[in-house]
Amino acid sequence: MVVSLNKGPFSYSGNKSRIWKMYLREEMCKYDRVHEFFLGSGVCVYNANNGGVATDKDPHVVALHHALQDKQLHVKVENVYRDYFPNGNDKSCYNKLRIDFNKEYNDNGITEQNVPMLYTLLQLSFNSLLRFGPNGYNVPFGNKNLDVERIRNHSEIFRNKNISVKLGSYDTIELDSISKENDVIYLDPPYVASKFQYGGWNDSDEAGLLKHIDTLSNNGYSFILSNTFSHRGANNDRLIEWSRKYNTRLIKMTYNAWASRVSSVSNERNTVEVIITNIPSAFNDLPQAHQRGNHK
Ligand SMILES: C[S@@+](CC[C@H](N)C(=O)[O-])C[C@H]1O[C@@H](n2cnc3c(N)ncnc32)[C@H](O)[C@@H]1O
Repeated sequence: MVVSLNKGPFSYSGNKSRIWKMYLREEMCKYDRVHEFFLGSGVCVYNANNGGVATDKDPHVVALHHALQDKQLHVKVENVYRDYFPNGNDKSCYNKLRIDFNKEYNDNGITEQNVPMLYTLLQLSFNSLLRFGPNGYNVPFGNKNLDVERIRNHSEIFRNKNISVKLGSYDTIELDSISKENDVIYLDPPYVASKFQYGGWNDSDEAGLLKHIDTLSNNGYSFILSNTFSHRGANNDRLIEWSRKYNTRLIKMTYNAWASRVSSVSNERNTVEVIITNIPSAFNDLPQAHQRGNHK
């Protein structure tokens, strides 16, 4: 049975909760496992019927997922909150917790001992951002509510579904554990089509990824890729061309609307989001991105 939590265990910028709920859920529920090659907060893998294998290059992300193996994590987070915030949410208490966490973090990285402090900070911080600078976690107080249930639920899922998270690049995933018949691979890479590139994702990373997806597809694996044709004033021409051979769907936009946007893409609000897949029957209620798509 699918447990629908919508969100991952922690907030993450670029997470796919909204897109999962509106578009991906229906298709992904048809598969036994969903393998998430760019994990982030892992919305899809936690919601999959039977988990999946996942990778992320960010060690902080991976440590937060691994911490969920501890059945008592939510209790430890509650204890941190009780110790540091005796009178409820307070900025100076938050700053003290952040100093104490960073002292440990700077000596030992994220450990079993300090990860409950990080979960507490994350939930209370401004926009619940996961952001580290040279001196450690550096997000200011955000006066958010603590939600220990979210941690308890995800810890249960992590331990009961077949979820495996590894630190590393998407192309290091061993394909032996992925079923061609019953599973789907979900890819949600950083966007190259952006004037404000982040995470060091560049054009050659993008080209390598698209080639890798072609190989997966040619070898019989089902994939779903989330991406943008244009984002914050930049077009991803390579992706647009590449996607013509697959089933490519626009999210909330007609073909004519995107075609006119892509030809005049100077406006930074012109984000065109797409879902690209080699599953011919998927997402057919969404508009096609290419008028005469040559779908697989
Ligand atoms: C857009 S986010 C994924 C968000 C995720 N779908 C969610 O719902 O939270 C992209 C993720 O890819 C990770 N990443 C960047 N390069 C990677 C690579 N070569 N292999 C695996 N993960 C990578 C980043 O650390 C980031 O967590």
